[in-house]
Amino acid sequence: MISDDIEEILFTPERLKTRVQEIASEINEEYEGKSLLLVGILKGCMYFMADLIRALKVPLAIDFMSISNYGFSTQKTGVVRILKDLEKPIENQHILIVEDVVDTGLTLGYLLKILKERSPASLRVCALLDKPVYRIMRVPVDYRGFELDRRFVVGYGLDYQERYRHFPFICVLKKEICPL
Ligand code: IMP
Repeated sequence: MISDDIEEILFTPERLKTRVQEIASEINEEYEGKSLLLVGILKGCMYFMADLIRALKVPLAIDFMSISNYGFSTQKTGVVRILKDLEKPIENQHILIVEDVVDTGLTLGYLLKILKERSPASLRVCALLDKPVYRIMRVPVDYRGFELDRRFVVGYGLDYQERYRHFPFICVLKKEICPL
């Protein structure tokens, strides 16, 4: 059974739901009178984005980007490749990036740089998880679900080697399964 791989559940579906509602309330307040374009970063954002947009009351549209990192966590270079870009220009629009995890900040730093060059009216970041201990590049996280320490987590869209995304909670895997 896949559940045998779990060491500990950190965030239950109920806790995730409550936190997403809280973030959505903040966004609803701060963007009142404006319309938003949410840019989800695939694939990790899938559950978070789906729950977040259903709790938002401001007019909105969504789009997605998919990014691949060259190099692996220990030797991250900040060089990323765009696998899927936005469908339309974002000039003069209010953009909210929806990320799963901000770790070193290199992916987000790169994304912010290229999106800023496209002259949006505003550009902010909403991340489900923030791991400030690993930060290499200073990046703004305007809305944050939870702060995490050094643990590598899966579920609620997050994967380890493309597995475990479908868990409705966020958990840590056993060391023999995931040594990260
Ligand atoms: P960074 O901020 O450029 O180091 O990379 C962040 C990306 O690393 C995230 O978008 C995730 O895809 C991945 N990542 C970092 N920590 C975790 C984790 O605990 N579980 C799953 N993916 C993670």
